[in-house]
Amino acid sequence: MVKFTSLMKSDKYDAIFKLNHEWLSSKTENDNEYFQKLYKEQNPDFLYIGCSDSRVPANIITGLDVGDLFVHRNIGNLVSNNDLNTMSIIQYAVEHLKVKHIVVCGHYGCGGIHTAMEQKSFGLLDNWLKNIRDVYRFNFKELELIENEESKYDRLVELNVIEQCENVIKTSFVQKSYLKYGYPTVHGWIYDMKNGKLIDMDIHFEEMLKKVQKVYKL
Ligand code: CO
Repeated sequence: MVKFTSLMKSDKYDAIFKLNHEWLSSKTENDNEYFQKLYKEQNPDFLYIGCSDSRVPANIITGLDVGDLFVHRNIGNLVSNNDLNTMSIIQYAVEHLKVKHIVVCGHYGCGGIHTAMEQKSFGLLDNWLKNIRDVYRFNFKELELIENEESKYDRLVELNVIEQCENVIKTSFVQKSYLKYGYPTVHGWIYDMKNGKLIDMDIHFEEMLKKVQKVYKL
C-alpha cells in the first residue's frame, strides 16, 4: 500500500493511479462481477449534501460503500434556490432515484462559515457567502448574545444546517414526493472534525414541513 501523505508532492500525482489499482483489485478479489453489477444501475437511499472540505469526505466518514450515497458538495453545504446545480441534484435524487432520506451535513471548523463571519469582501466568493451571511442575519439576536467567538462560530454552523434543511423542504420536489409517498425525510447532521463524530441534530422534519407549507406550498 502506498503511503500517500508521506510522498513528495511530485510523486503524488502518479501515486493516485497506483492507489486506484490497489483499490479496484481489493474490490474484485472476492467478487469478479463487482463493477459489472454496479455499472448496471445505482439505487442509493440517501442524498448527502455536504461541504467540499477535503477533511469531510461523505463515504469515508459514514463508512458507506460505492453506490450507497448520492452526493453533492459545495462550500458551506448550501442549498440555494437559484443554484441550478443543487436544485437539479435534489430533483433527480427525489424523482428518479427516489431516495428515502436527504441529509444536509455541516461541520465544525468550516472554513466557508468562518470566512462568511469576517467583515470584509472576498470578490466573487461574496455571492456565495451571502447565503451564510443571510443565516447570520436571520439569527442575529441569538448570535450576537454569544460572546465566545468559537461558540458563536459553532452555533452558526448548526444554524446554517437547519436553514439549508428548510431550503431542501421548500423545494416542490420534496413537498410533492413526501405528501404522495411518505418520503424523503430530511435530516440535519454535524460532523465534528475534532473527534470524527457524526451528530444527528434531530431536526423536527414534520414540523418544519408544516411551517414551510404555510408559506411555500408548491
Ligand atoms: Co466546510
